[in-house]
Amino acid sequence: MDIREALAATQQLIDDRIEGFLPEPVGHAQRLLAAMRYACVGGKRVRAFITLHAAEMFGLDAEPVLPAAIAIEFTHAASLIHDDLPCIDDSPLRRGVPSCHIEFDEHTALLAGAALFVRSYELFTSIRDERIPATAIVRVVCEFAQATGAQGLIGGEAADIEAENTEPDADTLKFIHTNKTGRLIAASARTGAILAGAEDGVLRTLTEYANHLGLLFQITDDILDATASDEQLGKPAGADQSSAKMTYPALLGLEGAIHRARQVATMATAAAEQLPTPDLWIGLADLVLNRDK
Ligand code: IPE
Ligand code: IPE
Ligand code: MG
Ligand code: MG
Ligand code: MG
Repeated sequence: MDIREALAATQQLIDDRIEGFLPEPVGHAQRLLAAMRYACVGGKRVRAFITLHAAEMFGLDAEPVLPAAIAIEFTHAASLIHDDLPCIDDSPLRRGVPSCHIEFDEHTALLAGAALFVRSYELFTSIRDERIPATAIVRVVCEFAQATGAQGLIGGEAADIEAENTEPDADTLKFIHTNKTGRLIAASARTGAILAGAEDGVLRTLTEYANHLGLLFQITDDILDATASDEQLGKPAGADQSSAKMTYPALLGLEGAIHRARQVATMATAAAEQLPTPDLWIGLADLVLNRDK
């Protein structure tokens, strides 16, 4: 299977179905509902891809897992709305269009992010399928809250802001990147696998793979920020340097960051080789390493 084609198929599936999991923007608070929809348009859908394919690897097809994959894209979209706010990264462009707080306004964007975070849980707990036991859903919800909360994604975002204008150090940087980005990517993999009933041993290997992939994803995001254009990224390039962010290029230089990305991709590949569908996961690591957006 060609990995780019597979990712394009997931992108199509999510783009076709995601709005169906959101309330219609009518009635009171319709501006909020419109902002939630707006923020869910576009994106590469990498996290949904990971969830759906992790489930498939353990014999569960896309349909019963779709609400979980979309829930994860909701949390991701929420994190991007908040990440772009003036008090966080102050970024006016996202996915090639004005950021949510520019298209709407700050209070609407803040509330749309909050509403998308909690909507994720509504979706996880809406799953009703004879192949998925309630215990698996409870485990997913608990793990997802841990991965995205104060000791996960949100904690990583807090550390990212606090590290602005400070001397880069390897420990802090790894903490920021594994939490703000890696935890959600690892949770995407674990969610699919747990819903499909994966055994603990292979779940550990998948988690090891996804942890490497998540770190790789943020290192390449840092590299692209320093090397690509606004048009290519659909978000402002060069923003990390302007905000004096702690990034891999800031710590190691651009060449050093590229070298580190290759090392992390090699570790991801080594873990992928132990999985039941190694080619898919090796292809994904390669795609993330060599991505241009
Ligand atoms: C952007 O994630 C935020 C990071 C964690 C670097 P993506 O690059 O996956 O963003 P979309 O969903 O494709 O827009
Ligand atoms: C943020 O990292 C990752 C999130 C948790 C939202 P960045 O701030 O580097 O993401 P971009 O570059 O704005 O997409
Ligand atoms: Mg940020
Ligand atoms: Mg940002
Ligand atoms: Mg970035």
